[in-house]
Amino acid sequence: MGKTLNEIEHAARQDHVPIMLGDGMEFLLEYIRSHPSVMRVLECGTAVGWSAMKIAGVRENITVDTLEIDPEMHAQAVRNIHEAGLDDRVFAHLCDAGLYRTNQYYDLFFIDAAKSQYRMYVEHFLPNSVIGSVFVFDNLNFHGIVDHPELSENRSTLQMTRKIRKFRETMKNDPRFETTWHPDVGDGVMVSRRIV
Ligand SMILES: C[S@@+](CC[C@H](N)C(=O)[O-])C[C@H]1O[C@@H](n2cnc3c(N)ncnc32)[C@H](O)[C@@H]1O
Repeated sequence: MGKTLNEIEHAARQDHVPIMLGDGMEFLLEYIRSHPSVMRVLECGTAVGWSAMKIAGVRENITVDTLEIDPEMHAQAVRNIHEAGLDDRVFAHLCDAGLYRTNQYYDLFFIDAAKSQYRMYVEHFLPNSVIGSVFVFDNLNFHGIVDHPELSENRSTLQMTRKIRKFRETMKNDPRFETTWHPDVGDGVMVSRRIV
């Protein structure tokens, strides 16, 4: 028998797989519950498939395409999704999210892959969105370092967190989107709804 979602979550947290924080996940699921029009979801950053399966669990009419660059993570996700009996609704793709191309439209994009690439993902997937589609971004606090750079001395971390700070401002000021910023949810979650 396959593992339950709780067991997958527990194992992932124990193995330090960076799955979404519990309250961030609950926030995203509540958003989807309260927006019945969300049926097609694209996720950047599958890890072990936990968040993709949680999203698919909200309603039976939801399908998820989820993208992962790491072959081992992808293989584990494929196993988990199969064992959960969700492989008719959760489709795991092994690829660099920034190179994934499809003609499919999505109602919601959950962006949880390479943090320094968030801006590029928005432009890359904009043609796959419609007015009303929503982009949800996780990790925009990056463990507090974005607002408190003194917490890190690592040059590449600081470079990346500067990029995240700039991205937050860019999205807030982007007239194509209505953006809400939730610094206290999970590791910092932003929701941008396409309005034009
Ligand atoms: C934060 S984890 C995803 C967690 C997952 N969404 C969850 O909450 O269960 C980020 C994942 O993105 C993957 N990743 C990093 N860069 C990527 C890229 N360019 N394309 C696709 N996946 C990428 C990493 O290998 C990692 O597994």
